[in-house]
Amino acid sequence: MKKALKNAVFYEIYPQSFKDSNSDGIGDFNGIIEKLDYIEDMGFTAIWMNPCFASPFADAGYDIEDYYSTAPRYGTNEDLKRLFNEVHKRNMYIILDLVPGHTSVNCKWFKESVKPEQNEYSGRYIWTDSVWEDCGGVSDITGSLRGISQRDGCCALNFFSTQPALNYGFAKITKPWQSAVDSPDAAATRRALTDIILFWLGMGCDGFRVDMAFSLVKDDEGHKETIKLWQDILGKVHDRFPEAVFVSEWGQPNQSLLAGYDMDFLLHFGPSHYNDLFRIDNPYFSGKGNGDLSGFFDTYMANRTLTEGKGLICIPSGNHDMKRISYKLDTEHIKLAYAFLMSMPGVPYIYYGDEIGMRYLDGLTSVEGGYERTGSRSPMQWDNTPNSGFSAASLDKLYIMTDPSDDRPTVEDQLANENSLLNELKKLIAIRKSHRALQESSDIELVSVKSYPLIYKRTAEDSTILVVINPSDSQHTQSIDSYPKEVVYSYNGECEFKDGKLIIPPCSASFILL
Ligand code: NOJ
Repeated sequence: MKKALKNAVFYEIYPQSFKDSNSDGIGDFNGIIEKLDYIEDMGFTAIWMNPCFASPFADAGYDIEDYYSTAPRYGTNEDLKRLFNEVHKRNMYIILDLVPGHTSVNCKWFKESVKPEQNEYSGRYIWTDSVWEDCGGVSDITGSLRGISQRDGCCALNFFSTQPALNYGFAKITKPWQSAVDSPDAAATRRALTDIILFWLGMGCDGFRVDMAFSLVKDDEGHKETIKLWQDILGKVHDRFPEAVFVSEWGQPNQSLLAGYDMDFLLHFGPSHYNDLFRIDNPYFSGKGNGDLSGFFDTYMANRTLTEGKGLICIPSGNHDMKRISYKLDTEHIKLAYAFLMSMPGVPYIYYGDEIGMRYLDGLTSVEGGYERTGSRSPMQWDNTPNSGFSAASLDKLYIMTDPSDDRPTVEDQLANENSLLNELKKLIAIRKSHRALQESSDIELVSVKSYPLIYKRTAEDSTILVVINPSDSQHTQSIDSYPKEVVYSYNGECEFKDGKLIIPPCSASFILL
């Protein structure tokens, strides 16, 4: 297991909204540095930071203008390097967000690519050879840019209309303008991406979360060619940086881990049933669902079997693309959700602010291409000073408004309250870190997933922990085959053991050493 993933708990930081150190209303690297002691004190071992590169921010920085320079609003490359060093001084790790599938329309490569004269970048993006022919009907192409240049042709998009698709070739060639995966143009894009990865690893980052990692080769059934492409790139990178960590936004671990990724995220779209946990109407962890988590676990366990020994699957609390976990769960039930996240295999990720149950802010006007995601990207609530301690800027300058409610949660209040969500999570992180059985690669055996409560066993070489989580508001009993030795964690009442049965209190969680 790579060092950064061993016994790890990650924290996702959306840099715009974390901490503003220079009062311009937007978060920055120095602000993150100010808060590293807090992150370390919570028990997090590593950080994933969303894109921080030069960008016009039509999609919050997922539209990169220059892969080699940080966005001035966050600080300079040197400031970022200082952030890496400060993280490492605290024995933590930091991964950046790599966006390999598309750039901004402002990127120098694209500005060259739109020129009618043939040049180094003419084949860096996917272009048809006539403005009247679009790129429609091809998987992993979201649309076309047309009529924007003297160059004749339409340019394929990878996401929004400001994000032209880079050219890694097509698995199936059906049109003369499509490149093969081993064509000189596709190979040049591949080299350019490898150079970017090597540059930032050389600067001291510990790896990458990779945006839409599945989307590179077009018309690629089963993503077979994309898998080969990543095997090639990651192989080269690992020759020089064997400990570099790669976590994919892919949502299909059987493909991404084969591609060489260390871990794959479960996503709020795709086949994982992730939303059943915290996000559908009456989700499992609200305690108001039908209690059946078998859809989620069938997929999860099937993927575990398919990926055994190849890497990890990650279940995050949320991310910058979905409504916050507090949207459907009250604080008590979020605590149970965290008991689940901190006792599952893989590496848990907590989205900034989820540790205090920050709210999703409904109805905000879109900021930087956030649309309904904007409500999950509001500034971190540190304390009860103006702007919740996020920034000393005037209200009108804030990147996104802070939660205006009087009872908004803050880090300061929750640190002072031993029963707070923050302190419960901190306790859970410490318990995970001190029991091998609860960590990334220990076994999991399901005991009850079809009706409340949720029960599974986690086993390492020398110990087994029975995890019992009951989000429902009624008491349950469960026969167990071994005698409980010690309760290592309990929330809202301990399970009682009587006549070979556990009596499980409503809305409770227990980790029991067997
Ligand atoms: C996934 C990212 O998480 C999201 O925020 C972004 O808008 C798209 N990819 C496009 O890069």
